[in-house]
Amino acid sequence: MPFDVAAVRGRYPALADGYAYLDGAAGTQTPDVVIEAIAGAYRTGIGNVGGAFPASHRADAIVAECRRAVADLVGGDPAGVVLGANMTTLTYRLASAIATGWAPGDEIVVSRLDHDANVRPWIQAAARAGATVRWAEVDLPSGELPAEQYKELVSERTRLVAVTAASNVLGTRPDVARIAAVAHSAGALMYVDGVHATPHMPVDVAALGADFYVTSAYKWCGPHIGAVVADPALLERLRPDKLASSPGEVPVRFETGTAPFADLAGVAAAVDHLAALDPAATGSRRDRVLASMAAAEGYEQELFAVLLAGLAALPGVTLYGHPARRTATAWFRVAGLSPRAVAGHLASRKVNVWDGHNYAWELTGALGIRDTGGAVRAGLVHYNDRSDVDRLLNALAEIA
Ligand SMILES: Cc1ncc(COP(=O)(O)O)c(C=O)c1O
Repeated sequence: MPFDVAAVRGRYPALADGYAYLDGAAGTQTPDVVIEAIAGAYRTGIGNVGGAFPASHRADAIVAECRRAVADLVGGDPAGVVLGANMTTLTYRLASAIATGWAPGDEIVVSRLDHDANVRPWIQAAARAGATVRWAEVDLPSGELPAEQYKELVSERTRLVAVTAASNVLGTRPDVARIAAVAHSAGALMYVDGVHATPHMPVDVAALGADFYVTSAYKWCGPHIGAVVADPALLERLRPDKLASSPGEVPVRFETGTAPFADLAGVAAAVDHLAALDPAATGSRRDRVLASMAAAEGYEQELFAVLLAGLAALPGVTLYGHPARRTATAWFRVAGLSPRAVAGHLASRKVNVWDGHNYAWELTGALGIRDTGGAVRAGLVHYNDRSDVDRLLNALAEIA
């Protein structure tokens, strides 16, 4: 059955403003069900968790359902889902807990493909422990992160490998499972940044070999909430800083303060929405997520082929990278114009794109474009359609 993008778009009130939202990699729009779930939680009445009265029980139920939903989205165990403000905050928290045991002589491996949020927290934690940082390099012309190099980078001294499941600028999807096999054979942990990958494909944390998989709901049509998914037994081994008075069990001991309960209701609604993208999908929510995300990925990739062909036909456009496996994310510059000027022109044509380094700090440094405005990013998600792509290409044709 063809992907019914018109029906999908009808669920997103914000799309009615007439803009082409090609900025999903920086944050997606939210469907009606998510907005209603958040409003509904507030309307119904929610207390804090752990109390003796019904409004508190409702908050308990929201948190439990949120963990189940995130677990269904990525194939994890609800008891290993840590919820938090966003990926960056959670990664700093996990880094400080994981690095407690590091010492001089220990090593970690980070990559120049990654968003800085999966680089800097590890480098800073390593510096505090006196551990050594090793770098996986990007093949700049192709935008690939070759997995072979990890055989040289990883040794029995390696304590952790941090790598992204997809680049938020090039869309590159490294061979995470292969990298994980190398890391695990040396006894190292794998911390996988799934923020950009999760909205674009079916995800299975076990198949990826991720000991920790981190994702942000606002990239997949939910509210601004992050989650780390790990084996609860692994979380049991870690002792994050926490209040004496707060719960000591896993996963709660990783969560600080009071959660935004209504938003957590929105996270679960977002997963239900994703699970329904393929209306023909049946079975458990996990089954439906897998079928729906496969359908969404197929749809995005078809539309992306049109976008890439259109960019290639514009003489003034230089596209960065051509990785073999990628999300529907294009990163480019236009000759003679700053990325901000291009984004400004596109905004005047009602096209939302992002410009700048996009926190791909090491990559923009390696490419020598960090100080010259970075690049322009146009990305597709399941609610974009052909008219969005045509609007982008027509607007670019005026300047490129
Ligand atoms: C690949 C990737 N990793 C990490 C982050 C940081 O996520 P958060 O905003 O949830 O901290 C982003 C945000 O753009 C991202 O795209």
